Amino acid sequence: MWGGRFTSGPAEIMEQINASIDFDQRLYQQDIQASKAHATMLAACGIISDSDNEAIQDGLDKIAQEIAQGHFTFQRALEDIHMNVEARLRELIGEAAGRLHTARSRNDQIATDFRLWVRDSNDGVIGQLREALSALLDKAEQHSAVVMPGFTHLQNAQPVTFGHHMMAYVSMLRRDLSRFEDARVRMNESPLGGAALAGTGFPIDRNQTAELLGFDRPMANSIDAVSDRDHALEFLSNSAILATHLSRLAEEVVIWASDAYSFISLTDAFTTGSSIMPQKRNPDAAELVRGKSGRIIGNLNALLVVMKGLPLSYSKDMQEDKEPVFDTADSINLCLAAMTGIIKDMQPNEERLRAATGKGQITATDLADWLVRELGLPFRDAHHATGSIVHLAESQSCQIWDLSLAEMQKIEPRLNEGVFSVLSVDESASSRRSFGGTAPLRVREAIVAARQELGLS
Ligand code: ARG
Repeated sequence: MWGGRFTSGPAEIMEQINASIDFDQRLYQQDIQASKAHATMLAACGIISDSDNEAIQDGLDKIAQEIAQGHFTFQRALEDIHMNVEARLRELIGEAAGRLHTARSRNDQIATDFRLWVRDSNDGVIGQLREALSALLDKAEQHSAVVMPGFTHLQNAQPVTFGHHMMAYVSMLRRDLSRFEDARVRMNESPLGGAALAGTGFPIDRNQTAELLGFDRPMANSIDAVSDRDHALEFLSNSAILATHLSRLAEEVVIWASDAYSFISLTDAFTTGSSIMPQKRNPDAAELVRGKSGRIIGNLNALLVVMKGLPLSYSKDMQEDKEPVFDTADSINLCLAAMTGIIKDMQPNEERLRAATGKGQITATDLADWLVRELGLPFRDAHHATGSIVHLAESQSCQIWDLSLAEMQKIEPRLNEGVFSVLSVDESASSRRSFGGTAPLRVREAIVAARQELGLS
C-alpha cells in the first residue's frame, strides 16, 4: 500500500495489532457511499474526468453488491475497509481507481464513514424509543386507575396507580429521545475534505459532499474534522443513560414477577424455564436488559479513556472507537426491542397490587393531611398525632383504617367520622390531583399530552 517508502513488509504481529478489517467491515456501506459522493464532487469540480468518475461509481456499486451477497474476500493485509474496497476497485476498473483518493485521506474518510454509521444507529434508536414509548403509553392507559403501593426505600409509601408508574418511565424515555435527537443535530456535519488534517490544495467543494451525504454543512475546522469523536461519545453516553433507565425498569419487572410480589405476570414469550426445577418461570429477558447495561456503561468509559490523552489530530488509538460503539449499538438495540416486548407482555395482577396496599399504613399521610385541612393543625403536629395513631394500629397488628373512631379520639379528640373517607386507598390515589400527581384523571391527561407531543395516535 505504501510500497514507495517501505522496502520490507510488516511483522506478523504488526499486521495483527494494526488491522481493523475484522470489525470495520461493518462500515462498508458508509465507506462506499462516502467514496461515491467524493468522486462525484471531484468530477463536478474538474479534479477527475467524468469517465473516471463513471468507472468509479460503477465499480463501487459492484463492490457493494459483492459484499452484500457475501462474495467479497476481506484481506487483513489490506488493513481496513478503505484499503480493501480501494484494492478491489483497482482490480475492477484499473487506473481510475487510483484517482479516487485525490484530495482525501483515510483520516477524513474514517471520520466520515463512522459518523454516517453512528448517525444511522442514532436514528435506529430514535425509532425504537418511539416504539417503547408507545407500548408504555398503551400499558399506562389500560391500567390508569389500578392502585398499587408506591415505594420509597422499597417500603410502602403512598398509593399510586400502575398507569402513573408507567408514565414515570415515559418521562424518562422522552428525555432519552430528546438526547438522541439533540445529538443528531450536532453530529450532522461532514468531516469529508478535512483530508489528512490540514485541508487540501485541490479546489474541492465540501458543501457538495456534505449535501450528498445528508449532512447539514461541512465541519468548520479540518483539524477538528479528523480528531473529533464527540458524536460517538454522545451516542455512547446517551445510550448509557438510556440503558440505566431500561435497567431500572428491568429490575422492577424482576421484582414484580417474583413469587413474593406477584405484581405482574409474564408469558412464556419473555421467560425461560429451569433445567432442574420444572415449576420455574424466570424473567431472563429483563435480567439481561439489566445485565447488558453493564457493558453499555463500560463502553462509554472505554472510549472516554482512549480519547482523553490524545494530541490533535489523528492517532491510531482512535481505531479503538469502533468496537465499543458497535457493541453498544447492538446491545441497546436488543435491550430496547426486548423491553418493548416485555412491556407489552406483562400483565399487572390487580388483586395482588391492591392487596399489597393493605400493609404499611399506606394512607397515613392522608390522615395527617386531613388533620391539617379539617382541624387546622400545623403539619408537624398532624404528623406527630398520626404517628401515634400508626403506633396504636401497629400495636394491634392492624391498619389505621381498622381502628375505631373512639380509639383514634384517645389520641386526637377532635377527630370525627369524616376522617375515614380519606383513609381508603382509592380515595388517596384519586385525591392526588396536583399537576403531575397520581390521580387517574391526571394520568389520563398526561397520556393524551404525551401522545400528542410525540405524534403517536
Ligand atoms: N482504520 C483506521 C481507523 O479506524 C482508518 C484511519 C487510518 N488512518 C491512518 N492515518 N492510519 O482509525
